[in-house]
This record gives sequence, structure tokens and C-alpha cells, in this order.
Amino acid sequence: MKLRTRLIIGFMTVMILPTLFTTVGMRILAPQRVSEMQFLLLVVIFLTAAIFIMWIYRAVNIPIHKMQDAAKQIKEGNLDFELKVDEDDEMGQLCRDFEEMRLRLKDNAEEKVAYDKESKELISNISHDLKTPITAIKGYVEGIMDGVADTPEKMDRYIKTIYNKANEMDRLINELTLYSKIDTNRIPYNFSTLSAQDYFDDCAEDLALELEAKGVLFIYHNYMEEDSRIIVDAEQLRRVVNNIVNNSLKYMDKPQGKINMTIRDVGDFIQVELADNGKGIAPKDLPNVFDRFYRTDASRNSSKGGSGIGLAIVKKIVEEHGGNIWATSQDGVGTTMYFVLRKYQEVPVDE
Ligand SMILES: Nc1ncnc2c1ncn2[C@@H]1O[C@H](COP(=O)(O)OP(=O)(O)OP(=O)(O)O)[C@@H](O)[C@H]1O
Ligand SMILES: [Mg+2]
Repeated sequence: MKLRTRLIIGFMTVMILPTLFTTVGMRILAPQRVSEMQFLLLVVIFLTAAIFIMWIYRAVNIPIHKMQDAAKQIKEGNLDFELKVDEDDEMGQLCRDFEEMRLRLKDNAEEKVAYDKESKELISNISHDLKTPITAIKGYVEGIMDGVADTPEKMDRYIKTIYNKANEMDRLINELTLYSKIDTNRIPYNFSTLSAQDYFDDCAEDLALELEAKGVLFIYHNYMEEDSRIIVDAEQLRRVVNNIVNNSLKYMDKPQGKINMTIRDVGDFIQVELADNGKGIAPKDLPNVFDRFYRTDASRNSSKGGSGIGLAIVKKIVEEHGGNIWATSQDGVGTTMYFVLRKYQEVPVDE
């Protein structure tokens, strides 16, 4: 029952019941015993008021106690309790709001813990990835200083290695900068409406040249039924394709590398598939390859440089385009990366 209704009932009863009782009593039952009746009136008023105050007090006091307990638990940092309420009055509603607040606080606290954990991992990964080339550079420079590089050939090799390691660091720092810009939405996208057919045909033509030079077989199929239009940042989308193709090259273990690019119509979307015949990704790693800094154990221990940020960037860019990306793979056989982009649809203008 609502608190307001309780108060109204209480007030009416305290006012009306005793008055009615004594009026009737005085007029009909005992008109000659007025003072006794007045005393009785006071007693009845007192008792009725006391009962109703108790009734209202209980309605307010129980939920307040529950909330006091809950607030104390929150103050002590415990968010794992449940504030149970059965009342459907104003106090019950307040308790339910309080419970909702607790759940939100709990979600936020859990998010913060996950975020802190991720940040720590991020810092440790960055330090690890930067430390590796720095250690190598230091080693080679010390070699030169100690006179270990005593022939022009050796000196040449040392300097080239230092140069390559510095380049590796440069690339890593650039990738990190790009990722942090993308992650904090500081990258200015340059969207334009393009013909999907033209865009992917051009893309395939460039890839065919590039891959042919590397001795990799490149096959392109365009199964689009009609020329759809897409709203994309041409440069960023190229980054997506390049990153995926670079992975296919990097993790290729067959003597004759093959990359298939297929474009299809899938309802309101255009689906791009990039399939390779590389070493594949184990099922346990597949769900994680789009996480930042995730590298499979095999690639961490291999000589293939990389920070595991490429696919995280790719995913972010595809999602910023309103699309979606996923992968299928068979260990030892090859990997296929799929992404979809929404087709541009003209909004009909009413005449
Ligand atoms: N085509 C592929 N074939 C086999 N493994 C792959 C392929 N693409 C990605 N992977 C696995 O997924 C991991 C994550 O890929 P991602 O591109 O994010 O990082 P990376 O290539 O290791 O480093 P980066 O791209 O930052 O230089 C890789 O380390 C690799 O283990
Ligand atoms: Mg990569």
C-alpha cells in the first residue's frame, strides 16, 4: 500500500473513529456522563493514533534499515549482496532504485578492474616488444665499440642489423600510435561513396602485382551481382586488406603460397573473403586473434616480428565502417578472413 494512502487512512481513522464513537456514546448511550466520555475519547484517540503511527513507522522503518545496511556494505567496498524488497510502496521503489544503483556500481567496478588489467598487460607488452630490438641494438653497438666488428664486411653486417632493428622499433611505435589514435577515436576518417566493384577491382590489381613479385599465387573472384556503392575511407580500408594479406605472407609455410580474394553480395552487405594456404590458426587461438597484442604461442616464439596489433587495428577500422570481421581456419591448412561492409542505400526522396 502506498505511503500516502496509509497516511490518509491513518489521519481519517484518528480523526473520525474516536469522534464518531464519542458523539454516538454521548448522545445515545450516556448523555449524563460527559466527563467520563471525554476521558474515554482521549484514550481512544491516543490508542488509535499509536496503532497507526506504529503501522506507518513499520512501513518506513524496515526499508530504511535495509538501505542503511546496504549503504554500509557499499561503504566497506562490498557490492556482492542483494537488496531484497517485497513492498510496492514509495519506500519499496526507493529500495529497488538503490538495488539498481548497486548493480551499476558493481558493473563499473568490474569494468575498471578489467581495464586496469588490460592496461597493465599493455604496458608490459609494449615494454617487452620495445626491449627486444633495443637489446639487440645495444649488443651490436657494444660489439662495434669493443672492436669485434674488425672487418669491413662484419662492420657492414652490424650496421645493417642495427638499422633493421631501429626500423622495427620505428614500425612498432607507428603501429602503437595508430592504434592508440584509433582506440581513442582520434583518427579522422575520410569517408566517401565509392563503387564497390571499382574499389575492389583496383585493390585486386595492386595485390596481383605485389604478390606476383613475391611468387605468391593470387586469385581474384568478384561474384557481385550488381555494382553496389559503399561508404568507406579508401585509405583505411586498404590498410585492412594490406594487414590481412601481410599476415597471410608472414604466416605462410607452403612452398607455393596462395591467396584467394573473393567479393560477394550478402543481402545488405558486401562480403570480402581473403583466404590463404598458410600455417593456419589453432582453434584455441582463433577467437583471440583480433585482441590487441594477441599472438599465438607459435608466432611469439618464432622469428617473425610483430606485436599482435595488426588485426586489432583491422577490426577497429572495419567496425568504424559499420561492418564486422571474423575468421575461420584449419590448423596447417590455411586461414580465411571475412569482413562485411554495408551497402549504401539511397533514401528515396518524396516528391
Ligand atoms: N593468415 C594467418 N595465418 C596464420 N596465423 C595468423 C594469420 N593471421 C594472423 N595470425 C595469427 O594471429 C596473430 C595476430 O595477428 P596480428 O596481425 O594481430 O599480429 P602480428 O601479425 O603478430 O603482428 P603485427 O601485425 O602487429 O605486426 C598472429 O601473431 C598470428 O599468430
Ligand atoms: Mg599482423
